[in-house]
Amino acid sequence: MLEQNLMEKIVSLCKRRGFVFPSSEIYNGFSAVYDYGQYGVELENNIKRVWWKEMVQMNDNIVGLDSSIFMNPKIWEASGHVSGFSDPLSECKNCHSRLRVDHLLTAINIQADEKMSIDEIDKIFFENKKSIKCPICGKNNFTNVKKFNLLVKSNLGNFTEDWSKEPAYLRGETCQGIYVNYKNILDTARVKIPFGIAQIGKAFRNEITARQFIFRTREFEQMEMQYFVHPDDEMKIYEEWREKRWQYYLNLGIKEENLKWHKHEKLVFYAKQAYDIEYNFPFGFDEIEGIHARGKYDLSQHAKYSGVDLSYIDPITKEKFVPHIVETSVGVGRTFLAVLTEAYTEEKIGEEIRVVLKFNKNLAPIKIAVFPLLKNKPELVKKAKEIYDSLKINYMCEFDDNGNIGKRYRRQDEIGTPYCVTVDFDSLEDKKVTIRDRDTMKQERVEIEKLGEWMKEKLTS
Ligand code: GAP
Repeated sequence: MLEQNLMEKIVSLCKRRGFVFPSSEIYNGFSAVYDYGQYGVELENNIKRVWWKEMVQMNDNIVGLDSSIFMNPKIWEASGHVSGFSDPLSECKNCHSRLRVDHLLTAINIQADEKMSIDEIDKIFFENKKSIKCPICGKNNFTNVKKFNLLVKSNLGNFTEDWSKEPAYLRGETCQGIYVNYKNILDTARVKIPFGIAQIGKAFRNEITARQFIFRTREFEQMEMQYFVHPDDEMKIYEEWREKRWQYYLNLGIKEENLKWHKHEKLVFYAKQAYDIEYNFPFGFDEIEGIHARGKYDLSQHAKYSGVDLSYIDPITKEKFVPHIVETSVGVGRTFLAVLTEAYTEEKIGEEIRVVLKFNKNLAPIKIAVFPLLKNKPELVKKAKEIYDSLKINYMCEFDDNGNIGKRYRRQDEIGTPYCVTVDFDSLEDKKVTIRDRDTMKQERVEIEKLGEWMKEKLTS
């Protein structure tokens, strides 16, 4: 019942319940960008909070950063993005869809890796052309393969006639802001190698094909941590981070069978090792996070292009070296889609199907919903409002007096609220409320006075 159209169901739920809206919808949309609605933004914030805690709060030697989206364009030359940050593009001559050739090849089990030249990819593509069909119209009539740069240009601060010749780019990844602040942090944060810098922020890519909902979008958020290490320790520390990042997904509530490692067989010249963690999305396993041992490439390139020495002098041994970098990089949107996929549950109750998002409680957008049994009984509404006002100081809560209780439960199930609290006529006498559990649907009576304590135990355990 579930697998077949799970993606459609998730997309529909996201729209219906205010998690994700297509961007600019009243203007017929805007391709590959999405807006996060009232529950979506809560889920996003919770995901980011968990990641930040895992990285910055729990590690003495990892500090945070919020660097700007616009940076000196030379940064993108130094990083190799201006010359090399591109995907192979072909156009279907029949329906004019623009297509990523590496994806078309993967569909017939041929891997075009990052190291191949466009000519090599073009050759493979045309050798296999007969067995490749346009995923949009089904025909196989394609243009030659060309390189398509993914950096998004802007005209920031550029008042020349042809600003596109000297563009400032919107950042294509957040980590470049980390590399160029490495020295600032080193000079001000009293950190010693090994140490990390973590950042959450928007990145922009002119993706050729942007399908699969929020999986691949042109504007997205990344959570990246760059760990600066002694060259001799790089691989040991890399393995430690691989282990930690795997465990992180299990702690998010993701089942181990829905995760797998993808090892990059052909590495870019400077990389020591590269693995992705893949999640079993409704359309199959695909990348959620990259964990890369990047050697000294990033700091060396920025030292070369900026003319600033970015080497490190060990305070004890006085050894001077360019730190190597272990990177972990994950998208907020992909995590969002993974935890939604994981949480989406359908249960048959009598003749009805109950749709419930069984999020980990710390990720749930709303933690507690408070209901008066009846809307038109002022004494019940007053008591429920009092309870709601006291709980909302510590938790995201929702007050709902609309429709019958069954409908209110279903609505909260669909947004994944762990607990619903109902004030009924007995509550006015016995000073107790009914708490209904999202997952078990079991109900229990709890004293109003002890409600705060009860919630604390359940929601912070
Ligand atoms: N600094 C390394 C880096 O940016 P990446 O593999 O290109 O590496 C890292 O991106 C992560 O960012 C991916 O694993 C994915 O979660 C997310 N990501 C990348 N491109 C994306 C896109 N177009 N839409 C949504 N998320 C994206």
